[in-house]
Amino acid sequence: MIGVFDSGIGGLTVVHALRQQLCDHDMVYFGDTARTPYGTKSAQTVITYVLENVGLLLSHGAKILVMACNTAASVATDVVRQRFNIPIIEVISPAVALAMKSTKKFRVGVIGTRATIQSKAYENKILEMHPATEVYAVACPLLVPLVEEGWLKKPETAMIVKKYLHHLKVRQIDTLILGCTHYPLLKKVIQRKIGPQVHIIDASSAVAAELAGYLAQHAELDDHLGKNRKLRLLVSDITPQAEELARMILKHNVELEHIRC
Ligand code: DGL
Repeated sequence: MIGVFDSGIGGLTVVHALRQQLCDHDMVYFGDTARTPYGTKSAQTVITYVLENVGLLLSHGAKILVMACNTAASVATDVVRQRFNIPIIEVISPAVALAMKSTKKFRVGVIGTRATIQSKAYENKILEMHPATEVYAVACPLLVPLVEEGWLKKPETAMIVKKYLHHLKVRQIDTLILGCTHYPLLKKVIQRKIGPQVHIIDASSAVAAELAGYLAQHAELDDHLGKNRKLRLLVSDITPQAEELARMILKHNVELEHIRC
């Protein structure tokens, strides 16, 4: 099994991308819907939750883990790598690698939750790869609730996106990283507001490509992963909103399984 976890349902954008590249592989997803959002919480609290989530996925047979949640990846990747002996694919490195391939001016924008932006995880990774890059990072805390309300095409959402992106626009970035599970759902409005000249990096497809590449190089692991197209969606709380968001992201009816952690 490939194990994927997120703070809630938004991480299904990553599952959607994974299933486009690895459609046969069995996957078990855990969305911590009872404790979402993580993006407004302290790093210590997020780390505590993440360690529990990893334990839960291991107990459900995960042999490789995808940390779909940008907030979790920003603050907890090192701790998870120290505590668990399992390959871990996180969203930040693949997104940064793609962004650095794309940028010509080395002026890169990053948007994410408050916790992600405060952690400077994206910034540090970008500067590690190319120290002369100008990185402009903006926290966009209102975007997650807007997506969760399904306000993808509302004029109010477009107005808020425009306001958040203003700082990046005046800095003339040429590449923008969507550093949050929910933002791919707002990609159209983000592209409209930042301008067609800016290349948008969607972390969900970057992580899918990274996982596919990893498995291609580790046949001994890949051979042990089930390939029966199974997808289990475990969540710590079920609400009609969570079900609706899951349907909206995966584009088909889904069955969420309630699990206590
Ligand atoms: N999954 C989170 C992320 O990608 C967004 C939602 C939350 O704040 O928990 O950062």
